Amino acid sequence: MTATAAAMELGAALGSEGAGATSGEPSQRLRCCDASACRNAGGIALRQALLAARAAAGLGEDTLAIRAVGCLRLCGRGPLVAADGPGGHRLWGGVSPPLADQLLAAVLEAGEVDPLAPFRLDLNHPFFRLQKPVVLERCGLVDPESLDDALAQGAYTQLRRCVRQLPPEAVRQEVRRSGLRGRGGAGYPTGLKWDTVALQPPGPRQVVANGDEGDPGAFMDRTVLESDPHRLLEGLAIAAWAVEALHGYVYVRAEYPLAIARLRCALEQVEARGGFGPALCGTAWPLRLELRVGAGAYVCGEETALLQSIEGRRGTPRPRPPYPAQRGLGGAPTLINNVETLAAIPAILREGGDWYAGLGTGSPTCAGTKVFSLSGAVLHTGVVEVPLGTPLRTVVETMGGGVVGGLPVKAVQTGGPSGGCIPARHLDTPLSYEAMAALGSILGSGGMVVLGPETSMPALARFFMGFCVQESCGKCLPCRAGTVQLAALLDRVVEGRAAAADLERLEELAAMVKATSLCGLGQSAPNPLLSTLRHFRSEYEAACAQAPQRTQAQTPPTSPPHHQSESPLDETGGQEPPAARREP
Ligand SMILES: Cc1cc2nc3c(=O)[nH]c(=O)nc-3n(C[C@H](O)[C@H](O)[C@H](O)COP(=O)(O)O)c2cc1C
Ligand code: SF4
Ligand code: FES
Repeated sequence: MTATAAAMELGAALGSEGAGATSGEPSQRLRCCDASACRNAGGIALRQALLAARAAAGLGEDTLAIRAVGCLRLCGRGPLVAADGPGGHRLWGGVSPPLADQLLAAVLEAGEVDPLAPFRLDLNHPFFRLQKPVVLERCGLVDPESLDDALAQGAYTQLRRCVRQLPPEAVRQEVRRSGLRGRGGAGYPTGLKWDTVALQPPGPRQVVANGDEGDPGAFMDRTVLESDPHRLLEGLAIAAWAVEALHGYVYVRAEYPLAIARLRCALEQVEARGGFGPALCGTAWPLRLELRVGAGAYVCGEETALLQSIEGRRGTPRPRPPYPAQRGLGGAPTLINNVETLAAIPAILREGGDWYAGLGTGSPTCAGTKVFSLSGAVLHTGVVEVPLGTPLRTVVETMGGGVVGGLPVKAVQTGGPSGGCIPARHLDTPLSYEAMAALGSILGSGGMVVLGPETSMPALARFFMGFCVQESCGKCLPCRAGTVQLAALLDRVVEGRAAAADLERLEELAAMVKATSLCGLGQSAPNPLLSTLRHFRSEYEAACAQAPQRTQAQTPPTSPPHHQSESPLDETGGQEPPAARREP
């Protein structure tokens, strides 16, 4: 296959054939990534330099369109610029503004010799070729700040279809058939959750998109929000239609200023068209969606804490049941879904639930695609969307290029502070909820941090435990005090002061914190520790061997201080037994 043919094939796979190519479009088009990573790498200055170079060449938008788009996936090589035209689809990364003239020449001349060949990226590389964009199908193609562009590329088509033709039960049936599971981490079946909300006694309902995304190393939802905000709004509006809600929120953390700005812009554009009325939906429908900005506490991603935060109260979890689907905002049944979950909905309705179910392994628990953010020691840092069940090795080595410098992969951290580490010998494990859990980790929301051979596993476990200490809301004792004690024990390991008995204490305390914490944060805080102990125990033992021998009497106590409440749960009186991370 020639490079051009491969690039054309990729273009088709990414849905870029004809994307935005409404009649009267120029034959040449430059798509400049305007999402955070490329902005940080100088993307805005490069786009301005390209506009200036085009003006200096006496050309205008009619000859060569220069558009701001969202993420083009290979974020670590930014700023990225893609060209579409007679020369096919081409991509450059890391071009600096002084080279804008040469980039323009490369695009316009489209000759065999590319003056910017060192910056050219191979669109036929597995990083691009093996992607299966569903949630991200318009990312990198659509202008994130233009409703007209989004509409030209199919936005709100499925919402219009729902509101005009599909009763809520028919929409829910399609979602059930798709096998979609929540992408926020717990993997609860989305159709079942929608049914639970819809089948509550008559009365008002609420819908919420969870865009808190606080896991270190996760940027999947940010990518969707920055690149295609109307995609999320359409998914959320369809969810509202399906559960018969007339009001909803998008909740995003304050650390995502660009995502917030783009959502705000998208909501204003919808408002300016009369809301979800005749212009967008083809008929009057009084749905109202609002933006809520969270202060950036990790625990506010937990659904009950998030609801508290929306209600203007301190964001702390509460025992479940009642689940939000039964009693949520203002006491109303409330549907909460992750951003990526909702962003999958328009494609599911367009192509059908069976189509989506067929994208995974064929197993009903492993349907569709999943977005992963690939970072750490990996060569190709960025965002990938692949069918669930794809082997971890395909993502990390084939697509990601393995560890920088050709060093071996030591492990892959999945699922952030709630997850664990998959050692390199298990790289052939399929990316499914069940397979990851069997190895002591979780698929989680999609953060994937690749670890090179130099990584100290006890130090990594200490990092995540420190994160949980900082982010613990303090409402229940096992998490508030237990994570501090676990961190102290891990300090001893990392600093070579631990005794062999400390490993037993670590395991004992970890089991207690998991079993007795009130919410998912505490219940899963020991996971990185336990998974590294399971797969890399020799590193802990080696650290203990360095320490001078210590008697039991000299080993500091790790049980929580006695002056604190004896209740393992809510000091304020909530005595509900801790649920596992169950939904809805
Ligand atoms: C500590 C903690 C943090 C969480 N953070 C997020 C988050 O940032 N985004 C998210 O969608 N879900 C997060 N969740 C899971 C939510 O509670 C909830 O399960 C999810 O939003 C439901 O959406 P889904 O069914 O579409 O996955 C978190 C859970 C816990 C325990
Ligand atoms: S487990 Fe308890 S202390 Fe920890 S975040 Fe959840 S409610 Fe707060
Ligand atoms: S942010 Fe530009 S490629 Fe992802």
